[in-house]
Amino acid sequence: MSAPKTRVFSGIQPSGELHIGNWLGAVRTWKTKVEAGTEDNFYCLVDAHAITVPYEPAELRERIDLMAMDLCACGVDPEKCTLFVQSDVREHMELAWYLSTVTPMGDLSRMTQWKDKSEGKDSVSTALFTYPVLMSADILLYKAAIVPVGDDQLQHLELTRETVRRWNFRFGNMFPEPQPVAGAVRIMGLDGQAKMSKSKGNTIAVFEDKESAWSKLKGAYTDPQRLKKSDPGRPEICNIFTMHTLLSTKETQDEVRANCTGGKWGCFDCKKVLHERMEHELVPLRAKRAELSTAKTREALGDGASKARRIARETIREVREVLGLGSLAKGAES
Ligand code: TRP
Repeated sequence: MSAPKTRVFSGIQPSGELHIGNWLGAVRTWKTKVEAGTEDNFYCLVDAHAITVPYEPAELRERIDLMAMDLCACGVDPEKCTLFVQSDVREHMELAWYLSTVTPMGDLSRMTQWKDKSEGKDSVSTALFTYPVLMSADILLYKAAIVPVGDDQLQHLELTRETVRRWNFRFGNMFPEPQPVAGAVRIMGLDGQAKMSKSKGNTIAVFEDKESAWSKLKGAYTDPQRLKKSDPGRPEICNIFTMHTLLSTKETQDEVRANCTGGKWGCFDCKKVLHERMEHELVPLRAKRAELSTAKTREALGDGASKARRIARETIREVREVLGLGSLAKGAES
């Protein structure tokens, strides 16, 4: 028998449109892994994470279908991986509770995402605070070894690793320490001030049309010190150049760098080239997106959930056993 494949797990909130930050930061890596097929890939629409902040239920319902289709169009093919919706597998919530018993509040209160999202709010939910515990549960339920994420999630991953060490020490080796895989660069929003995020309105959607993407890109923040074209630019601090490093060929990057630092191209010229590169990559995805239907995608999500649930139940059984939980009564589920 051949060795079991390494398990990969990652998640995305279905709360907004899939944007180029998600795509360049994580989803492209998922696609590469799915296509390679050398690992056992699990990708999850984390709807239970999406309800930790105020939201509209009808909108979320709709977004789940849309996000699933967007992911499929980006190459996260449900025929070749396990694509599912988190809340379809209730074991995620159950494991989160168990893990919360070994997660110190002090660790959670140090999470920068928690600090950012709770800052200045009169009231925030307990769930927003324990968000990283549910994230650990997502990963550990499948005993995933690799987690491809955007770099803003690395702190949460470190917390998961800490939880694994604590758990394994207390209850015996059960979970592997998941290794994060993150891109080397951070993609900021178009405003250049914060990470790209739908709630901040600083994104370009992957499936936005060409003109509207261009009108957003045109106005994007670059190097504030550069007032006229002849001022030498600083690609190393420019978010647009960062995107070039992810989308353009080496030659184009060199060309952009030389013309920017040499004061030959203005930011407009540089953005124009980036937009062309982006279009080149996105046109085939849009075509694929147009072929997809809600009905077919839902069917795939159903299959994904069944597959995920089988593994999840197995893990939960083991966990309840080591924790000493349950009545062991006949008819009581173990
Ligand atoms: N918190 C992640 C984000 O916002 C999404 C997520 C939830 C996730 N559970 C996960 C990512 C498990 C990786 C693994 O991007």
